[in-house]
Amino acid sequence: MRGNGPEAPAARTEITEAEIAAHWKEESLLPPPPEFVSQANMRDPAARERFSRERFPDCFREYADLLRWDRPFERVLASDRAPFYRWFVGGRLNASTNCIDRHLPLHADKPAILFQPEPAEAPPVAISYRELHRRVNEMAALLRDHCRLVAGDRVTIHMPMVPELPITMLACARLGLVHSVVFGGFSGEAAGRRAADSGSRVLVTSDAFWRNGVLVDHFAQAEGAVVAAREGGQEIDTVLIWSREPGRSLSRTPELPGRDTRIDDLLGRYSGRTVEPVAMDSEAPLFLMYTSGTTGRPKGCQHSTGGYLSYVAGTSRAILDLRPEDVYWCMADIGWITGHSYIVYGPLALGAATVLYEGLPTFPDPGRPWRIAKQLGVGVFHTSPTAIRQLRRLGPEEPRKYGCRFRLLVTVGEPIEPEAWRWYYREVGGGRAVVVDTWWQTETGGILCATWPALDAMKPGSTGPGAPGIHPVVLDEHGQEIPAGEGRAGNICIPHPWPGLMQTIWGDPDRYVEQYFRKYNRDPASKDWRAWPYFAGDGALLAADGYVRILGRVDDVINVAGHRLGAKEIESACLMVPEVAEAAVVPVADELKGRVPVVFVALHHGVTEPPGEVARRVVLAVETAIGKIARPKAVHVVPDMPKTRSGKILRRVLAGISNGSDTGDTSTLANPEVVERIVAQLQSTRPATKEDGPQETEGTP
Ligand code: PRX
Repeated sequence: MRGNGPEAPAARTEITEAEIAAHWKEESLLPPPPEFVSQANMRDPAARERFSRERFPDCFREYADLLRWDRPFERVLASDRAPFYRWFVGGRLNASTNCIDRHLPLHADKPAILFQPEPAEAPPVAISYRELHRRVNEMAALLRDHCRLVAGDRVTIHMPMVPELPITMLACARLGLVHSVVFGGFSGEAAGRRAADSGSRVLVTSDAFWRNGVLVDHFAQAEGAVVAAREGGQEIDTVLIWSREPGRSLSRTPELPGRDTRIDDLLGRYSGRTVEPVAMDSEAPLFLMYTSGTTGRPKGCQHSTGGYLSYVAGTSRAILDLRPEDVYWCMADIGWITGHSYIVYGPLALGAATVLYEGLPTFPDPGRPWRIAKQLGVGVFHTSPTAIRQLRRLGPEEPRKYGCRFRLLVTVGEPIEPEAWRWYYREVGGGRAVVVDTWWQTETGGILCATWPALDAMKPGSTGPGAPGIHPVVLDEHGQEIPAGEGRAGNICIPHPWPGLMQTIWGDPDRYVEQYFRKYNRDPASKDWRAWPYFAGDGALLAADGYVRILGRVDDVINVAGHRLGAKEIESACLMVPEVAEAAVVPVADELKGRVPVVFVALHHGVTEPPGEVARRVVLAVETAIGKIARPKAVHVVPDMPKTRSGKILRRVLAGISNGSDTGDTSTLANPEVVERIVAQLQSTRPATKEDGPQETEGTP
């Protein structure tokens, strides 16, 4: 299964993740607990009618009406340039006003952000909506007056999980600047490449943060970012540094005068300043979020102001059941789409209190999340299957020790196996909370499939039917719909647009069309949305009851602990090592993280370097180019790659060997004997490099 556009690389990974996905049996349904139903935002069955197919696209007005518009919109959807859509056309709004200012009359003193630092003895820090307003305004004044940024300019933000991250995002939004947050765990080089692609001349970073009991020097990454951006043709003239502890420098990396400035040293000038929010067109871009695809170059998914904000506010209300009195904790990192939509924009648009935790969920012990949740009074909790597996493995009895009272438990990012699901339901939720498994993507802005928590029964191991207004289909290779309950896997597609859908890939509209729409488009000239089903790139099964089971990616994306990495990106990094002639990266099933990348490299003729040394360099190259998160579980230095007669590396065979499963038909190989040699090598030796140090979960994507 593959996109048939020019993007599809010649030597793609031949095995699909769906092929090695866990195939657990269909589970029975569990009704939502009555105490949840009686209080839920969306408990009226009439909601189904309001969001039915016939009501498309006007049903999404209900989401837009959750926002304050500076100028009302005239049309819900303009699809005359399909598959490029405009939502809430003619409307104007500001995202920061919607997330802050409009809550001030009723909720100024209510916490907006509850920051929990990692050190075990550090108390939580509450930031009220009033204080958030002050801090966002001061930062906006600094960006406008010191950096001379104007609406439409891009700003790259490479920061850890501290309140200054959402403050910077909202300050950008206040001015109409397009923020591009790069996950703090990515390397400086990765941040710099993204800064170059987006054309950012300002980088906002931090000096340090706590992770797993260690103070990490984050500013050490900044120089690599500036150099990589320059190599990509973009000069970064300003690096702004937030201090983890105001007034102190926790980084040992020297600063470059003229380029690098401590934000604390500047903020005094803007103390108490307010900045008039810029009323943006509904379709003005709010942010870019880079994600991995089938090529080595990450794509900047461009999300709109009006459509995106409406969609995340609407789904936060309908699926996460949030309202202003809630304390809500999503354990994702803001550097991923889950954090943007469901830590920052959705919860704040609804006036809820959103918890931000700096560190590792299992630090200093696996009881930590439940202690934090109890102390802060968290009612809705959101995390990834990897974190659930990890917390269960390390502390199966921990949740019940602390007496948390959750009413809703959310999971995202990977398939969750029924066993882990049941632990989450019974041990974390005490059987009193609804569990919602949400499926969606960076590109989709918000949740696409989930059970409607008060209206649908739960089914462990399956995400739900479509979210309100979303009507997914599963298509076969020829574009035919596979009927529900037939038991045949296909490609999950959304046959219509929705407000959270990205607008385009930054600077590359052709790639947007090729990647997501070409596969099932029947008429390239058509400007009717019905001709352009959205192709998500996931394999799926549709059960007779309309519930979707996601089987995994059908392309070269590897989902590690719910984090999305491109096999091609990792391969490009491996090829930076001069001794390496060829590299192939395959996903290997992992008990904890779902999938992990395993690298195979073949060396240039005549290389005499010991394999262990080359493997070490490969690991270092991957960490430098992408970050520790992409560190391969193993690097195998092999005599040759299994290849077709036309010279393509057969990754399917390598994946089969690594997963201890079938390698498939090897008769078409140009060099079938190499398969046995590799099998023998893997059996006889420990991998040249194995991940060292504790396996850590990175929270949700
Ligand atoms: O394969 C699907 C998997 O994560 C991919 C999207 O990754 P990303 O863009 O990083 O966004 C993750 C958070 C929304 C999807 O193509 N995925 C996401 N949620 C689920 C999932 N797989 C199974 N079940 C899910 N609930």
